[in-house]
Amino acid sequence: MLRCWGPHWGWVPWAPTPWLLLSLLVCTVPFGLLGEETRQLLEFDSTNVSEGTQPPGKPYPPYSLAKFSWNNVTNSLDLATLSAIFRGHPVDDPTGAFANGSLTFKVQAFSRSGRPAQPPRLLHTADVCQVEVALVGASPRGNHSLFGLEVATLGQGPDCPSVNEQDSIDDEYAPAVFQLNRLLWGSSPSGFMQWRPVAFSQEQRARESALACQASALHPTLAYPLPHSPIVQAFFGSQNNFCAFNLTFGAPTGPGYWDQHYLCWSMLLGIGFPPVDSFSPLVLGIMAVALGAPGLMFLGGGLFLLLRHKQYSEYQSIN
Ligand SMILES: *[C@@H]1O[C@H](CO)[C@@H](O)[C@H](O)[C@H]1NC(C)=O
Ligand SMILES: *[C@@H]1O[C@H](CO)[C@@H](O)[C@H](O)[C@H]1NC(C)=O
Ligand SMILES: *[C@@H]1O[C@H](CO)[C@@H](O)[C@H](O)[C@H]1NC(C)=O
Ligand SMILES: *[C@@H]1O[C@H](CO)[C@@H](O)[C@H](O)[C@H]1NC(C)=O
Ligand SMILES: *[C@@H]1O[C@H](CO)[C@@H](O)[C@H](O)[C@H]1NC(C)=O
Repeated sequence: MLRCWGPHWGWVPWAPTPWLLLSLLVCTVPFGLLGEETRQLLEFDSTNVSEGTQPPGKPYPPYSLAKFSWNNVTNSLDLATLSAIFRGHPVDDPTGAFANGSLTFKVQAFSRSGRPAQPPRLLHTADVCQVEVALVGASPRGNHSLFGLEVATLGQGPDCPSVNEQDSIDDEYAPAVFQLNRLLWGSSPSGFMQWRPVAFSQEQRARESALACQASALHPTLAYPLPHSPIVQAFFGSQNNFCAFNLTFGAPTGPGYWDQHYLCWSMLLGIGFPPVDSFSPLVLGIMAVALGAPGLMFLGGGLFLLLRHKQYSEYQSIN
């Protein structure tokens, strides 16, 4: 079983922010994973389901993450990358679906701003953590299985966090994805969760392996006891209203998990306002050309008319 590290890290509140965040995540992820039955890995049979249907097919019985066994996370802690990996599989696996498979949660803190090397290359600052979820090698229960996650979060006051979808014309870091989805806690947000609505069905993350990621609406849900770590208690206080939503990955028409038995999705969690992408130089260049070219043509056309008119009037005056 996982243990929270909080009590051993008494010095953490005075340490740099990334450490605080990593320790917070290492403490809260097991709480999320070992929670009650709403923290689940969902699987749907999308055979004969048309695109855009929600839920995307007939649900199979979900895998409750509370009934998973997890690795000893201490051994996966990488101080160089400030990351730790939780790898788990169902304790009870009568069909052997997870005989060669696992579900992993990689949590990572950052010591400075930047982007990971792999798409969707979410912009991060030193105040955020990334959680990357991967389902690898597990046997699906049908030929057209789509997977999803039920995610539970803490609300703020009586309300669930607000859902916010931002359009972006910039897909340089996540091919063909023009949206950024967020949950914001409060109007001047005290915290956020941010992701691109894309998952990948191959380790080589490219446009061909990109899956759409659909988020359902948030609903208040049953309360859970918070872990007893002093860090977690200090951070979340006595809040105890929980909200849940479903994320589903992929569409019946594919690509899908069935291609390579691989699925990977990532998100950022942080305090305060989420980092905002500014336009990349490539997109600025494209915009300059796209908006600039008609302008130049217009200018060129005007000049041409002006010159013609001038020539014509000179011709007129000569006569
Ligand atoms: C899917 O649709 C086809 C044709 O309509 C039908 O023959 C088949 O039984 C359906 N399969 C499932 C799993 O519903
Ligand atoms: C996890 O691994 C560490 C280091 O190998 C060890 O000290 C610790 O006792 C292990 N924890 C559990 C719960 O097995
Ligand atoms: C697990 O892997 C072994 C060896 O590659 C293979 O023989 C076996 O069929 C696999 N089991 C499942 C359930 O995929
Ligand atoms: C999955 O596909 C295989 C081969 O195409 C087929 O034999 C099998 O019946 C299919 N299984 C289901 C559950 O549709
Ligand atoms: C998530 O999907 C499952 C299966 O369709 C459903 O039972 C559950 O109520 C959904 N949860 C939320 C929060 O919408």
